[in-house]
Amino acid sequence: MTIDVILGLQWGDEGKGKIVDFLATEYDMVARFQGGPNAGHTLKFDGKKFVLHTVPSGIFRKNLLNLIGNGVVIDPITLRRELENLDSVGVEYSSRLLVAKKAHLILPTHCLLDAASEAAKGVEKIGSTLKGIGPTYMDKTGRNGLRVGDILLKDFTERYNSLKNKHLGLLQALPSVEFDLAAVEKRWFDALEILRSLHLVDGEYFIHQKLAEGKKILAEGAQGSMLDIDFGTYPFVTSSNTVTAGVCSGLGVAPQRIGQVIGITKAYCTRVGGGPFPTELLDETGDFLRAEGAEFGSTTGRPRRCGWIDLPQLKYTIMLNGVTQLAITKIDVLNKFAEIKAAMHYRYDGQVSDQLPYDLCGGAVEPVYASFGGWQQSLEDAKDFDDMPAAATTYLAALENYLGVPVTIVSTGPERSSLILKEAGVAV
Ligand code: GDP
Ligand code: IMO
Ligand code: MG
Repeated sequence: MTIDVILGLQWGDEGKGKIVDFLATEYDMVARFQGGPNAGHTLKFDGKKFVLHTVPSGIFRKNLLNLIGNGVVIDPITLRRELENLDSVGVEYSSRLLVAKKAHLILPTHCLLDAASEAAKGVEKIGSTLKGIGPTYMDKTGRNGLRVGDILLKDFTERYNSLKNKHLGLLQALPSVEFDLAAVEKRWFDALEILRSLHLVDGEYFIHQKLAEGKKILAEGAQGSMLDIDFGTYPFVTSSNTVTAGVCSGLGVAPQRIGQVIGITKAYCTRVGGGPFPTELLDETGDFLRAEGAEFGSTTGRPRRCGWIDLPQLKYTIMLNGVTQLAITKIDVLNKFAEIKAAMHYRYDGQVSDQLPYDLCGGAVEPVYASFGGWQQSLEDAKDFDDMPAAATTYLAALENYLGVPVTIVSTGPERSSLILKEAGVAV
């Protein structure tokens, strides 16, 4: 069996949670492979809304296994809060939620370091979610980190104290920030008991066992490809590999195990935090997109920056990920627009190009736009492609043609049921 992948092709918040939750019934297991509580994946069904940060988005589907893979970084406090939310709505997870022992732990001092290092950067700050992501991955690659499996060791407290003291030393060189370390530590150790009570597994063996049993697995990405540590708009990125390659290292599977790669993009574009965004609209059109799309961060509540869809950017991330199918979300957000634009090329260094420059951060990149007519009507009643107004299908066809990948899913609203699947699509 192979592992299908769902991931974001822009700067995050493409609607991954919704699409994973919808498609999960086709699978036996959903597995998160990177990121941590910087993610906020929103699911809406039966009039209820849930935001997941660490728990995979298959958790609301009965009998489905959900694995938090080794590539994920876990804050026990956030995880506990998510589990309490599941308890409050009667979702049974104890037999279905598995945590890879090799996943790294976010310590309270990682969050403190995140805040202090952002404060030190001043106006140059990344705009981190301040969930301790960067410092935790730094300790992982620096070979200092603590892993979930370590909580079973007798000397765990000594290991914790040793790393904490190292962090306290580093903090001396950084600006001081408000942070009640003692209070957070107390909550952290309490929450660790909840983590200890879950199924802690050797994720790589577990997933191979499931593959051998013929189980179907869906890997759920967090963030988006433009936030990838290697290929994103560095240094305004997150600290993990958000692209398909991250599935292999974040779950312990070989590249030939990867099957379908479903890339998600909004019908326009957003980003939250600092960094370049060539098609950003700093005018009333951008404000209108934000209002229509309710573009405020699921994790931090920050207003998201909004702009038109950027096709050279998408072509780049489709290339990096080996995308086989496209899911276009939030098309309904464009319902009221008379004119919709899409960046078809970039102009920089006096030339027109479809390639992203080496340093999107430094360069003055000017998008070259094409204009499309809007449909100016609700898509609520559209249940399949043929029900959609011609202007909407023209827009989708233009994206498909330019990007060279079939659009198989179109999302027309935040609810689980607001989705159109194209015939022959989602060959899962
Ligand atoms: P994720 O991080 O990729 O899972 O995305 P988020 O949950 O952070 O942000 C997506 C937001 O858009 C959430 O508020 C979703 O409820 C909402 N959403 C998802 N799909 C659609 C859609 O097709 N239309 C509209 N209007 N909202 C959507
Ligand atoms: P989901 O999974 C959107 C952004 C932050 C910041 C940068 C680094 O919901 O799509 P970090 O906390 O990782 O050090 O922040 O990355 N960022 C996201 N933006 N969606 C996310 O996740 C994000 N996770 C991190 O805003 O600019
Ligand atoms: Mg999100």
